[in-house]
Amino acid sequence: MGTDAVILVGGMGTRLRPLTLSAPKPMLPTAGVPFLTHLIARIRDAGVRHIVLGTSYQADVFASYFGDGSDFGVEMEYVVEAEPLGTGGGIRNVADRLRGDTVLIFNGDVLSGVDLRALLATHDSTGADVTLYLTKVADPRAFGCVPTDADGWVTAFLEKDPHPISDQINAGTYVFDRAVIDSIPSGRAVSVERETFPGLLRAGARIAGHVDATYWRDLGRPSDFVAGSADLVQGFAPSPALPGPVGSALLLPGAEVDPSAVVSGGTTVGARASVGAGAVVEGSVLFDGATVRAGAVVRRSVIGFGTVVGEGAVLEDAVVGDRAHIGRGVELLAGARVWPDVVVPDGAIRFSSDL
Ligand code: GTP
Repeated sequence: MGTDAVILVGGMGTRLRPLTLSAPKPMLPTAGVPFLTHLIARIRDAGVRHIVLGTSYQADVFASYFGDGSDFGVEMEYVVEAEPLGTGGGIRNVADRLRGDTVLIFNGDVLSGVDLRALLATHDSTGADVTLYLTKVADPRAFGCVPTDADGWVTAFLEKDPHPISDQINAGTYVFDRAVIDSIPSGRAVSVERETFPGLLRAGARIAGHVDATYWRDLGRPSDFVAGSADLVQGFAPSPALPGPVGSALLLPGAEVDPSAVVSGGTTVGARASVGAGAVVEGSVLFDGATVRAGAVVRRSVIGFGTVVGEGAVLEDAVVGDRAHIGRGVELLAGARVWPDVVVPDGAIRFSSDL
């Protein structure tokens, strides 16, 4: 017996560029620590201690930070894909590191409140070959729709269906019987969602759904990344690894906020970052060393390492890379992105069309 955990972290995180130019998505600071720290703490608290990371893009960064895992109360191993093998290929590729009969597998960018012990218990009590954590969303069209029958067995996998027949979606966390992993072809790219799961169903495998409607968010897009971080800070998303008390803002060591500034909505102010007089920062993430000058307004935005936001600038739903300089009175709106080291001149206005 025994359970291993596998976290897939090999993706390039293209939707989160330019943030993912300097760090892979699962290592981006989220509520003050690399995102994976929250997930690893939840896995540890569920009693699973052996964690294997399936890496590819910027593979070294993970081992440099987490090492052998002992500082985090777990044992960590790393497997590198020279060429990205996709989600299914990434699972197959770590097979020789697995020790137990049951494997808990995570997409490395999902923030969730699911009770992992309950997910494992469903797998155990149903005797399924694979159990999928399913969540419910208002609009399932952008996700993998996974209907189940009256007994909870999965009946179909409908990826990004324009007319979904169920509001249940694949939440990106699975339990596999160890033996099932060996049935995934090795040495080539495989998508677990598009190839492995439909193939298993056709072959008569028993796939159970574990529906859980507590907190769930895929942090793949900038708007979800920033909202997920704010939800962690405010305690809406549970994490044993939050580096401070739950509240309306998280200030890391050395952060400076002028008493006349308003910092709220789950904002994180990074180490040595500063917020000037009269500035408003709401539901945002300021990476370490970022500066928001007097009178600026920053809402639902991510500000990169060492970036400066000039006096009176207005940023809404913006993503600004590292060491950029946003001039006075600049407006960055509706998903505008600024690449690292770019200087945006005083008074400029940019929208998402400037991507
Ligand atoms: P986008 O490029 O923005 O779509 O992001 P992504 O590359 O992270 O892709 P996606 O969000 O679909 O990936 C879901 C999870 O699987 C993430 O945690 C990725 O790190 C991981 N992942 C995606 N592709 C691979 C791969 O080829 N190998 C491994 N090991 N993990 C992968």
